[in-house]
Amino acid sequence: MPACLICEEPFQPFMSFGRMPIANGFLTEAQFPQEFFDELTVGACPRCSMVQLGRILPPEQLFHENYAYFSSISTRMTEHFRRFAEWVSGSFLTGKDPFVVEIGSNDGIMLQNFAKSGMRHLGVEPSANVAQAAQARGVRTVCRFFDEKAGREIRGEHGAAQAVLGANVICHLPNINSVVRGVLELLDDRGVFVFEEPYLGDIVEKTSYDQIYDEHYLYYALGSLDRLFARHGMEVVDVVPQQVHGGSMRYVAARRGAWPVRESVVRQRAHEEALGLAHPGTYLRLRARIEESRRKLAALLRDLKGAGKTVAGYGATSKSTTVTNYCGIGPDLVAYISDTTPGKQGRFSPGVHIPVVPYERFQESPPDYALLFAWNHGAEIVEKEAGFRARGGKFLVYVPEVGVLE
Ligand code: SAH
Ligand code: TYD
Repeated sequence: MPACLICEEPFQPFMSFGRMPIANGFLTEAQFPQEFFDELTVGACPRCSMVQLGRILPPEQLFHENYAYFSSISTRMTEHFRRFAEWVSGSFLTGKDPFVVEIGSNDGIMLQNFAKSGMRHLGVEPSANVAQAAQARGVRTVCRFFDEKAGREIRGEHGAAQAVLGANVICHLPNINSVVRGVLELLDDRGVFVFEEPYLGDIVEKTSYDQIYDEHYLYYALGSLDRLFARHGMEVVDVVPQQVHGGSMRYVAARRGAWPVRESVVRQRAHEEALGLAHPGTYLRLRARIEESRRKLAALLRDLKGAGKTVAGYGATSKSTTVTNYCGIGPDLVAYISDTTPGKQGRFSPGVHIPVVPYERFQESPPDYALLFAWNHGAEIVEKEAGFRARGGKFLVYVPEVGVLE
């Protein structure tokens, strides 16, 4: 039985997605024979209720010099992080000569805003290619994994930080207790840890099971974070729901008593109680809805194929690896996946090996149906593809329900 990453209690996974390749492991044909597969299971800890993967891969296998995801591909996310930085500055960095650190700063999408205003900042980013992209745009970045030792060493070199930030990265950190100790090493007495991650409540409410893949070890909710931070003498003092990435939550945590706990935290606890996030039955019902979603999506794609329609994927997301492999969707059902990221183009999707092609191919010969794998950027994409729809093209979606987008 796997042991909880927070409190080490053994737990029983509530579901298996079967054999899965590396979610972001877009590969060449020559690499097919060596492709790595592993069973993907997910469970909830009976003691602290943290939802998490049943098996952890070594971080170096996922985050390296060929990391496929460059944050700045999305204009909406660039704008989102500009506002995130502004909010942090206005709320927490008003003192003299503040210092801000970001864990998993990627290509500098957030920190560039602090760099532009001349604020002392440091990104901690282990994937060398994205770290270099950040340095190239003037964002100070160290290429390493963040943990307790990193926190201590950064403080030794630069002094205490007033804010440690993270976005879509704290869910990637299996050594979460060491990371929180590192954050404590780094923060001054009133310093804040502000991070934003896919929200478990949204996964449960929208059946967005494609958020479950190898890089996302932990599926946070306020309830489980309360228990995590209690172990370290910290507490959550604010929560702010976010629309991005299909439903995220921004959390502000600090040393216990350093900041007043806002009303938002009390309200969110009540919401989670109503959703049943700490009850095992919630996850058994989620599993049933995931299985139903798989049946419907596979049937819809088979029907379209039978009717002679062409289908292409839109966005070679990590999330799509869970969907395509779990639902058995290969190139016979989805001819290709269009993606704007140069590093993914010309490669094949993990496991099911659907060719990933440049966006220009989608523009030149659009399919009848585009399966919206990048549904988390849905608003941006639907706006951009008004022409595709005007000419009769349709988007297929599977979150929150399988169907054709109206
Ligand atoms: N914050 C960005 C990037 C998210 S992707 C955004 O929201 O768009 C997650 C990033 O975290 C990757 O760039 C990955 O290399 C980095 N990462 C993974 N493990 C890490 C660790 N232990 N410490 C710091 N960064 C890490
Ligand atoms: P992302 O949102 O990071 O999803 P995940 O975390 O599951 O990998 O990835 C979005 C992908 O979609 C990325 O590879 C770029 C692609 N994309 C497009 O091809 N066109 C677009 O207009 C947008 C917004 C994204």
